Amino acid sequence: MTSKIWGGRFSAGPGAIMEEINASVGFDKRLAKQDLHGSRAHCAMLVSAGLINKEDGEAIQSGLTRIEKDVAEGNFIFKRSLEDVHMNIEARLTDLIGAPAGRLHTARSRNDQVATDFRMWVRAAIDNIDEELCKLQSVLIDKAEAHADTIMPGFTHLQAAQPVTFGHHLLAYVEMIGRDRGRFIDARRRLNECPLGAGALAGTSFPIDRHLTAEKLDFDRPMANSMDAVSDRDFALEFLAASSILATHLSRFAEELVIWSSAQFGFVRFTDAFSTGSSMMPQKRNPDAAELVRAKAGRVFGGLITLLTVMKALPLTYSKDMQEDKEAVFATFDTLELCLAATTGMVVDMTPVPERMRAAASAGFTTATDLADWLTQALNVPFRESHHITGRIVKLAEDKGCDLSELTLAEMQSAEPRITEAVFGVLTVDASAASRTSFGGTAPNNVRAQIKAARERFLNKKAAP
Ligand code: ARG
Repeated sequence: MTSKIWGGRFSAGPGAIMEEINASVGFDKRLAKQDLHGSRAHCAMLVSAGLINKEDGEAIQSGLTRIEKDVAEGNFIFKRSLEDVHMNIEARLTDLIGAPAGRLHTARSRNDQVATDFRMWVRAAIDNIDEELCKLQSVLIDKAEAHADTIMPGFTHLQAAQPVTFGHHLLAYVEMIGRDRGRFIDARRRLNECPLGAGALAGTSFPIDRHLTAEKLDFDRPMANSMDAVSDRDFALEFLAASSILATHLSRFAEELVIWSSAQFGFVRFTDAFSTGSSMMPQKRNPDAAELVRAKAGRVFGGLITLLTVMKALPLTYSKDMQEDKEAVFATFDTLELCLAATTGMVVDMTPVPERMRAAASAGFTTATDLADWLTQALNVPFRESHHITGRIVKLAEDKGCDLSELTLAEMQSAEPRITEAVFGVLTVDASAASRTSFGGTAPNNVRAQIKAARERFLNKKAAP
């Protein structure tokens, strides 16, 4: 009787199961470049410390050069039977140069090797994302500049609250992204210490020079504790946490684009580049790209939760659990790259419709606060009382079915006899927005000043952020 225990894909038995669960090369091959870079530095350090001779060092470097070329050209063959990227590269080096290859792993373990490779990968990912975020800020600032005077309703509770400018609204996202960049850069600063030379966990008896290795790999210094060096994945968690907050911001913006581009709002239009028609309803133009950016935040949060869960309660030092760190980070990076490209694309593509925004800003008594402020400023009425009087005037306008500015002076005076003709100067949406001159407020002149400041703070290479 044949055993059915090892059925299906694993019919070959325990060996096949072990290979499938153990192998990481399917995804960690993305570390190949960093692995080669790390090996070059390690080899150079071994030569300089006199731990391997110059000839062997040169043989290793030339083998690595050849492998680098194959990897860059997509000609390197990764074998799952060799488990991970590190073993694949070492095996190939042995094929290419023979015995000297065996000296490269002196004073090194895969534990410090993978930690080093992964730190370098995340570091490069952060640099990439920072560049993309800078581009997004730049197109948002340009759009804000074109619409520093464009009146739209500002919302609270998604109810029209007070008139603001479209430029001011866009600059709010420039600030959020500025903080995102700060979080990534902060994480980068902390991760930039080199684990290599920590060995498996305890350090090594070989007289290595960890400072030299760190320097060759552009790290600020070697990590101070060998056990921490091989078991820390905070850097990946910080990357995922910063990514999650960024994804939240992108999804909030995407949601606004969905709302703004609806027929009911009609504040912005997208070309076919970022929207699609419906297969059944000819009138529809669906903001698919924005909807997907909104949705993809879920994947990014998933990456953070995955790695937090993997790391929670893991005893020191390395455990194979930690191999699960990479896919979460790679997938998050890929998702963010796509979402950032889509978001930047949509900002450039979108055409605001100022008439629709202005009409919406004028509906719903959005200048009621201006009326209350005027009562306090012009008539010295305490603000709480101004608020009550304004409530009565809004009720009058509601009953009459008109806007505040369309009431007569006599009608206004029925609520508060001291009101004068001058009140009409503050009831338009333009006057309202223009009056918000406090620091950080929405007045068009403020917005123009904020645009100038934002360019200086975020787009000037020396200052940012
Ligand atoms: N592929 C492994 C990982 O990503 C490399 C480290 C393996 N170390 C070990 N002791 N098995 O974590």
